[in-house]
Amino acid sequence: MSERNRSLVVAIDGPAGAGKTTLARGLAAALGMPYLNTGAMYRSLAAEALRRGGDPDDGPALAGLARSMRFSMEGDPASLRVEGKPPSDDLATAEVEAVVSTVAGHPEVRAVLRAEQRRLGVGGAVVEGRDIGTVVFPDADLKIFLEADPEERAARRQAERRQGDPALAEALERRDARDARTNPLVPAVDARVVDSTGRDAEDVMAEVLNLVPWREA
Ligand code: DC
Repeated sequence: MSERNRSLVVAIDGPAGAGKTTLARGLAAALGMPYLNTGAMYRSLAAEALRRGGDPDDGPALAGLARSMRFSMEGDPASLRVEGKPPSDDLATAEVEAVVSTVAGHPEVRAVLRAEQRRLGVGGAVVEGRDIGTVVFPDADLKIFLEADPEERAARRQAERRQGDPALAEALERRDARDARTNPLVPAVDARVVDSTGRDAEDVMAEVLNLVPWREA
């Protein structure tokens, strides 16, 4: 990380399919900052619970499992590691999609993972999630709330995952409904709202780079 960006936090929040991951990853690379994907932490916990035959409705047990997991930031530029390894591709399966919003809905689970997110991001990072600018880093130096029309979000999510998988499509629908109950997806009062509808990733990135106050001209 460059000296200039030390300890700065950029929060990227918004609903599924708005383009958060592409933006957050690109922004981190452009600014020379670490990148923290908090959705991957909830997904890793859900995947580990599934592997162990755990109950997605048992909040206290899941919180205990979350406490036993080792999250870190490694690499150059730094990004999330789970048990020392980059988050794996099996975090986007229909099985994980079907339970992750239930897992993420338990207050005990959120308390554990939010504390971990603060620890991982405190040295400065672009942090992607749903509650970053509102709860995890309310003092973030820049808050972006990325949104897009529902039709476009649905189309993007299908395109980035296995095309035409009915089980996955159904799981995504149910997940969205539960996600909205856990995180109301209201932008922080000081967030800049960016709409990605009908725009490519470069165009969105250019707009957001212009909102970074400490960026060199
Ligand atoms: O961003 P994503 O699709 O990878 O998120 C996976 C799940 O985790 C989804 O159900 C929303 C939830 N989540 C959350 O509750 N809070 C966050 N900060 C990030 C993700």
